[in-house]
Amino acid sequence: MCGIVGYVAPQPPSARTQEVLLDGLGRLEYRGYDSAGIALVTPNGLQVRKEAGKLENLRAMLQADPTDGATAGIGHTRWATHGGPSASNAHPHRAGRIAVVHNGIIENFRSLRAEVENAGRTLLSDTDTEVAAHILDMDYSKRLEDALAADPNVDPARVLVESMRVVTKRLDGAFALLAVTADAPSTIVAARRSSPLVIGLGEGENFLGSDVAAFVSFTTKAAEVGDDEIVLLRPESIEVTNASGEQVEPKTWEVSWDASAAVKGGFDTFMEKEIHDQPAAVADTLLGRVDERGELTLDEMRIDPSVLRSVDKIIVVACGTASYAGHVAKYAIEHWCRIPVEIELAHEFRYRDPIVSEKTLTVAISQSGETMDTIQAIRHAREQGSKVLAIVNTYGSTIAREADAVLYTHAGPEVAVASTKAFLAQITACYLLGLYLAQLRGNKWADEVADYLDNLGAMPARISELLETQEEAIFELGRQYADQESFLFLGRHVGYPVALEGALKLKELAYVHAEGFAAGELKHGPIALVEEGLPVFVIVPTPRRPMLHDKVISNIQEIRARGARTICIAEEGDTAVEPFADSIIRVPATPTLMMPLLTVVPLQIFACALAKAKGLDVDQPRNLAKSVTVE
Ligand code: M6R
Repeated sequence: MCGIVGYVAPQPPSARTQEVLLDGLGRLEYRGYDSAGIALVTPNGLQVRKEAGKLENLRAMLQADPTDGATAGIGHTRWATHGGPSASNAHPHRAGRIAVVHNGIIENFRSLRAEVENAGRTLLSDTDTEVAAHILDMDYSKRLEDALAADPNVDPARVLVESMRVVTKRLDGAFALLAVTADAPSTIVAARRSSPLVIGLGEGENFLGSDVAAFVSFTTKAAEVGDDEIVLLRPESIEVTNASGEQVEPKTWEVSWDASAAVKGGFDTFMEKEIHDQPAAVADTLLGRVDERGELTLDEMRIDPSVLRSVDKIIVVACGTASYAGHVAKYAIEHWCRIPVEIELAHEFRYRDPIVSEKTLTVAISQSGETMDTIQAIRHAREQGSKVLAIVNTYGSTIAREADAVLYTHAGPEVAVASTKAFLAQITACYLLGLYLAQLRGNKWADEVADYLDNLGAMPARISELLETQEEAIFELGRQYADQESFLFLGRHVGYPVALEGALKLKELAYVHAEGFAAGELKHGPIALVEEGLPVFVIVPTPRRPMLHDKVISNIQEIRARGARTICIAEEGDTAVEPFADSIIRVPATPTLMMPLLTVVPLQIFACALAKAKGLDVDQPRNLAKSVTVE
């Protein structure tokens, strides 16, 4: 998840172009901040400035090395996916006559990279974007040469549009691509597929952005760009065409948010925005993981396959929410790979002399990659000879650097202290790891892995459906329970870690007593807590697994008989639960192992709703830090 901005200005070239780009990048920094850069179309040609680190580093560079006035420009703030955070991997990428910024992942970049290198071009970065820039420039330079030979007055902007159309048809994956060339001074050519891109309509000037935050301080009139559409942006006009070159009339709307609300996508809080980012977080984490033969490939998996084949135990080390992602991984990996999986809270791990050997694979899960407890745990595991695989959201973080291999989640920056989208991305990455090991070790046939991947691919749409249909009702529940001081959460099988996460969310956001239990554990003690009116959330397994489902229904009956008010998270069409539920939150039908990607979402929303109903700070709850960098 990166932020992109584009601006086309009226003549004459001016410093405003750079100012607009920097303003937009500042508002997009919540989308990524490991490097930033701009490319300007000036009378002296394309000028590119880019720098690692936050936007302030780019600003300092521009002070030391100023640019000329410009008529068009593109800018980018990055959250690394391909290639680490560095100045060379920062965008824009220049290739021949053009410069490009990109948000997304180009899945077939390996074969395209070979094509670029075979053409004798030198790549200066590790990014998929630079490869795309060269492919675009190779097509454009040739097409322009031919066009000029036929008609010396040809409009280079239209040639670039044609190249963009032809080249984007060759790209697999997700992209929002903006390109500029000094051949067409007041022009940006853009395209998108499955990555966000919107147009900002100004008076004698126009804008592009990953979202309206990029330009909302200059214009509130916005226009949509559809999948596989090409935009020709000029100060006085906008032309949008589809993949076949036919004109499209873009849908326009008036942005009603002010600049600060726009950064939160119009939501009240970052947490709500991040809950809504979850379909994209899961989709992006899945992107680029299947190769051209349809096999699951984890590029970052730099642990020798022979070592992975000999692994006889996996230990997951993590803290808080990340450790619950590990719990979910246990159910999936043990089932798919028949390897025992242990979950260790990172801070307990090294103090209890754990049994770790060269045959143990340690999996560290962390959003920030900077949690000190987890860092110490992986150091200890490596000292014992274990290989460490990190599942991390933050490129180049300490855990990513110290691990033997990294599987990145592509959730983008998480601003709210309470983890939401990072959790779903971590679970998704754990599934990918499990399926990869199952494929490598021969536990699952290729078609079985493909089936699971298909199901995973359907999850973003199911999460969106759940948000669309249930969110309002859950907010209403939050208001109803605003005065309640205690809640329980029950789950069985993969519903158990979801119950733990639901309770953690509620504690950290609403400051109430909340406990999660394995449903079967209830009669071994916790049932004594149940009294008249106590709200209990129950994660109900699918009725397609009667063994699990029927037992949880019995648990619900047990607590109801003692006065509990039950709020059941149940699959659509599960009528058996209805007589025993005071409230039901429905989730779309999904294979059992993947249910946590859905069932946790209502619990996140409920915690947020309760905190809001109590007037609490949702994004920065008391006493907590986003990243716990001390032991
Ligand atoms: O950055 P990490 O994923 O390593 O952080 C681990 C926990 O501190 C974190 O998940 C914490 O529990 C969250 N605040 C939960 O919402």
